[in-house]
Amino acid sequence: MKMINVALPKGRLGEKVYNFFKNAGFECPSIEEPSRKLIFENHEKGVRYFWVKPSDVAIYVERGAADIGVAGKDILLEYTPDVYELLDLDLGKCRMAVAAKKDFKDNASKTLRVATKFPNIAETFYNSKSRDIDIIKLNGSIEIAPILGLSDVIVDIVETGTTLKENDLEVVETIVPISARLIANKSSFKFKNQEILALSQGLREQLENK
Ligand code: PRP
Repeated sequence: MKMINVALPKGRLGEKVYNFFKNAGFECPSIEEPSRKLIFENHEKGVRYFWVKPSDVAIYVERGAADIGVAGKDILLEYTPDVYELLDLDLGKCRMAVAAKKDFKDNASKTLRVATKFPNIAETFYNSKSRDIDIIKLNGSIEIAPILGLSDVIVDIVETGTTLKENDLEVVETIVPISARLIANKSSFKFKNQEILALSQGLREQLENK
C-alpha cells in the first residue's frame, strides 16, 4: 500500500478536519496524544499526517511534499496554487467581505484605499467593477486600518462578525463564501489515485451523513 501524506491546517480548524478523516476510517492514534510533534503516521491505514500553518497547506500540496491537504478557499483564491480541488468539506465556513466604518460613503471619483491580507482577491473583485483602488497589504489586525485612517475599506474574512462589531465596522458587501477544501497534488492524484479516491470517498460519505 502507498502511504498518503496529508497536510492538515494547524489550529482550531485542523482538529475538526482530523476528526473528519478519523471518522472516515483514517485514524492515527498518535496524533491525539498531547505533544508538540508535527508528523504522525499510521502504517496500517497508509496515512501520514503533518500539521502546517493553514496558509502554507497549498504550498506543500502544490510542490508534492503532501499528496493531499485541507486549505481554505480564501487561500486557494488568493494564491491560485496548481492543485486539484476535490471536495468542499463544509467546515471553517465564513465569507470574504468588504467592510468599512459605519459612516463610510464611497466617492467613486477617488481612488479607494483597500487594506487587506488578500491583495489578489481584492484586486480581482474591484477590477470586475472597474473601480480604481490602492491596495495596502497588511498581515493581520486589518480592522484597525479604517479606524486609523490608513484605508477607506478592508477586504477580510468575516466569520461571526464580532471583530467588526467590536470595532464599529460593518460589512459593505460580501465578495465570496469561504469554506475548507480537500486539495490534491496533480501528480499524486495520478500515481496514488486509488488511495486518494478511497480517502476522499470516505470523507464524502461523512459529509452525506452529516
Ligand atoms: C480573522 C479575520 C478577522 C476575524 C473575523 O482573523 O481576519 O479579524 O478572524 O472573525 P469574526 O467575524 O468571528 O470576528 P484571524 O483570527 O485569522 O487573525 P488575523 O487576521 O489578525 O491574522
